[in-house]
Amino acid sequence: MRTMLFIGIIFGIIGLISAMSVNKDRIELSKQSANEQLAPSMKIDEVMNHLNELQKIAMATTGKNRAVGTIGFNNTLDYIENSLTANTNFKVFRRYFKRGTFSLQRNPTLISTINGVAKTHTYSTSGEFYHVQYSTSVTLNENVLLTAIPNLGCSDEDWLAARPPPAGLVVLVKRGDCTFVEKARLAEKYKVAALLFYNNGQAGDGSQPIYVNIGTGSNIPALFLSNTLGTTLVNAANDPSRMATVRLTIATAPLVPIGNICAATLTGDPTQTILIGSHTDSVPAGPGINDNGSGTAVNLALAATLYRLMQTSTYDAYKYRVQFCFWGGEELGLLGSAFHAAEAKTSTVVGERISDYLININLDMVGSPNFIFGIYDGRTAPSNTPAAARPGSLKISTLFQTLFNQNSLPWDHSAFDGRSDYGPFLAAGVVAGGLFTGADALKTVEQRNRYNSMLGSNLGGTSGIRQDRCYHLACDTTTNINQFALDIMMQAAAYSVESMGQQSDLKSWLYPAREIQEFNKQTQQTKYEYNNINEYFGMPYS
Ligand SMILES: *[C@@H]1O[C@H](CO)[C@@H](O)[C@H](O)[C@H]1NC(C)=O
Ligand SMILES: *[C@@H]1O[C@H](CO)[C@@H](O)[C@H](O)[C@H]1NC(C)=O
Ligand SMILES: [Zn+2]
Repeated sequence: MRTMLFIGIIFGIIGLISAMSVNKDRIELSKQSANEQLAPSMKIDEVMNHLNELQKIAMATTGKNRAVGTIGFNNTLDYIENSLTANTNFKVFRRYFKRGTFSLQRNPTLISTINGVAKTHTYSTSGEFYHVQYSTSVTLNENVLLTAIPNLGCSDEDWLAARPPPAGLVVLVKRGDCTFVEKARLAEKYKVAALLFYNNGQAGDGSQPIYVNIGTGSNIPALFLSNTLGTTLVNAANDPSRMATVRLTIATAPLVPIGNICAATLTGDPTQTILIGSHTDSVPAGPGINDNGSGTAVNLALAATLYRLMQTSTYDAYKYRVQFCFWGGEELGLLGSAFHAAEAKTSTVVGERISDYLININLDMVGSPNFIFGIYDGRTAPSNTPAAARPGSLKISTLFQTLFNQNSLPWDHSAFDGRSDYGPFLAAGVVAGGLFTGADALKTVEQRNRYNSMLGSNLGGTSGIRQDRCYHLACDTTTNINQFALDIMMQAAAYSVESMGQQSDLKSWLYPAREIQEFNKQTQQTKYEYNNINEYFGMPYS
């Protein structure tokens, strides 16, 4: 509106024409520098098209949502991947992980047959066998031949020496030397039908079955046997004339596979990556178009617009890689982003390590109907935030605030408490920032008045009602989107990406050594890191 006062006089006719096709209240953010191109190139129609498609995906399902574990979620991932592949040349990759809870549907069963004599074994930690955490389900109703792995089953030599060879058989592996996870990996490699660990007979806990785990990444059925049962079966298995076989069943509750999708520019330094994140799942209650389709739609349009600009000769390439990520399972407790950050922390692959990320911009709900222009407040970073990530996070807050001030737009501080997809990165020392137009907080009278006076009186919204009245409800559809607000947030997000991309030394800007030292001195904080992504599981974040 206000921009129209200036531009409208000069470009009156253009203004009239565009007013017919575009929202009449459209505000184009003023250019902060002569070579600014990304924000002016962003098209709100492109963002709205993505939202319409996400809504169609939700409405085509019986539950009318896009929650993890539903076809609506899977179709969302396909839509994102197809869109990125069709509209960019970026390297697109999808990684699945499983929700890390494990439970049995009923007790497992184990029957051995030696010399034609069948025996049913007792399931209990004080009995003959027990289940193994992260085992998969299996039903072996026919007798399957046993084979014993020599030594402790920690090396390929052991597995190759087994007679008969383990493929398709049930294998016996003694406790000891290496981890159960490592033994399970080898069992998978040698394609066994099921894995039976057995205890080592040593003093302490060496007799009875013990409860062990083979890691969330496993894909094999496994049980743990007492030393007595294990050695009886090994002796029988080592004598081919005795025909030692077992039947067994394990029924575990299915783990839900959750996918993350990321797309990275082919150019720019992969050890200095600008990461833009949004989440792909909705809550089961509804289609999740503001929460969190809006962040996803802006993220998709950003990727495509950046690609189109990069194809033109007038656009200077960024020194930095830009990676757009679409996290799964945010509504279940930041599962996707926590998984990605945890993997990055142990990765040694250049470009995939946590140290390769310079910044994570998080695109939260960005089209709330009774919006505020919320900017994450770097001053309120959680106390577990490493000093290294603090000055940069403050700078990103200031960058957005300055942009809004220079455009005479209202804005508000928004909580920066780590309870969102940037949290795992921030806690690992990666600078973070982002935008948020509001969820279930009420718009105050002060806010309405300030927004009215800065934007024009029909745009300030309503005080005393929630910023998103459809937050986590079935009515979170495309009609729940405030296109005016979405448009501004879209431009602001684009502006932040470009202004970082065009910096000559982004790393020094985001990680100023002296200021970090100051933070280190000031706060004798206890360092807390997300070493275990299980810390996140099941926590009700949003
Ligand atoms: C979604 O995709 C995953 C991974 O491919 C698959 O395991 C799961 O069965 C799919 N879910 C539905 C509901 O189709
Ligand atoms: C919306 O998505 C963003 C980006 O993943 C996430 O940080 C945020 O928590 C989501 N908002 C809500 C209210 O779920
Ligand atoms: Zn939510």
